[in-house]
Amino acid sequence: MPALPVRLDRAGRDPLGAQLSAQVRDLVSRGTLRRGDRLPSTRALAADLGVARSVAEQAYDQLVAEGWLTARRGSGTFVAADAVPRTTTRAAPGPRRPVAQRGGLVRLSTGEPWIDPRHRAGWRRAWREVSATPPPRGYDDPCGLPALRTALAERLGRTRGLVVDPDEVVVTAGTTAGFRDLLGVLPAGPVGIEDPGYRAAVATARAAGRAVVDLPAEARHDEAALRGLAAAYVTPAHQHPLGRVMPADDRRALLAASRATGAVVVEDDYDSELRYDVAPVPALAALGRDRVGYLGTASKSAPPGLRIGWLVPPPGMLDDVARQRAVLHDVAAWPTQRALLTLLRDGWLDAVLRTARRVYAERSARVAAVLAPHATPAATSAGMYSTWLLPQDAALSARDAARRAGFDLPLLSDLCRTAGDTGVVVGFGGVDDAELDRALAAIRSGLGG
Ligand SMILES: Cc1ncc(COP(=O)(O)O)c(C=O)c1O
Repeated sequence: MPALPVRLDRAGRDPLGAQLSAQVRDLVSRGTLRRGDRLPSTRALAADLGVARSVAEQAYDQLVAEGWLTARRGSGTFVAADAVPRTTTRAAPGPRRPVAQRGGLVRLSTGEPWIDPRHRAGWRRAWREVSATPPPRGYDDPCGLPALRTALAERLGRTRGLVVDPDEVVVTAGTTAGFRDLLGVLPAGPVGIEDPGYRAAVATARAAGRAVVDLPAEARHDEAALRGLAAAYVTPAHQHPLGRVMPADDRRALLAASRATGAVVVEDDYDSELRYDVAPVPALAALGRDRVGYLGTASKSAPPGLRIGWLVPPPGMLDDVARQRAVLHDVAAWPTQRALLTLLRDGWLDAVLRTARRVYAERSARVAAVLAPHATPAATSAGMYSTWLLPQDAALSARDAARRAGFDLPLLSDLCRTAGDTGVVVGFGGVDDAELDRALAAIRSGLGG
């Protein structure tokens, strides 16, 4: 059995077991090791590398747990059938699903989740169930499958403190689709959006013919800020991209301003369940159901290509939203809704989030180890990205170094309209550990080592 082409750096930062598992993962994801290939025994590999056998055992155990390898009692350790290289697998979620590419660069995306390959079986089960279920004969309920709305209402109460009736939940094709639903029934007028803020929300508002007013992301949005607006779009659980949680006083002030001015608050609750320091803060909509249109998404706990989310309109807008959807047929596709129902019923989303939380906590610590000597964190890290404040020339230098290594590193300034924040926004969900290490090494060199 030939030894594996790996090299361990005894003086390196990472423990030898972690180095070994990262390199074997890399060999599988590049296709050097193929499905069914047998790996050397831990004894042979350890002897070959001159390390303790426990190092090889630890690396194999980790990769088996992640789904890259399978161990067959008595016959050895093999590359798992599912662990095929990125170039040949596109369908199942896992670390080798396509990462966002820009001009051949791997994007350190702020929005792509990590879905552990361990969860593939549940994913497949959901789609098998879809294929075995007769589809509706005609256009279905424009607000979504009743059973799915019930499951979502239960989940919103349990995880977000938002107690709603299933009839109040509308299934959407993702956050921007839900925002479009609201824009279609809001009174005329401009929309306030946080600055820096979510670019897709800005583009959606403009595409709907609305003027966009910049709401300074970390300011209190009081009556003066909301006057004249049809709506204010905010990310209270995890300001995108600066990362802060909206303080309780600011939440109350925003709801009071909404009542005083009539502007509806649109709450984008995209990754609230992905806190790894403290328990998630309940949704703003739970505090002011009458004033808030709540947008949720499966894009952080399932592949975002699924295109599914949910909207809880303010009670006074529900009928208009339902009527508009009945006319437009602008709904999430039935197979996707049906699959999400199974994924929810089986606890799949919760399981993905539980694993992801651990992975993100660990990755965000690795990002901090590289960035902290050079930059200031914009907030406590949460979700699948962390934002670091830097002078623009340093941010550009990090971006350029990342680019030379094949990565597209988002700049904070690209998410600003009138705000002058500068720095980098490091997404760590859409890459695997080896890619993240390479990207961080490049960023470190761009920041002067
Ligand atoms: C601020 C914000 N909101 C929402 C989303 C999710 O959007 P969608 O549900 O359309 O996939 C993202 C994804 O990156 C995001 O960054």
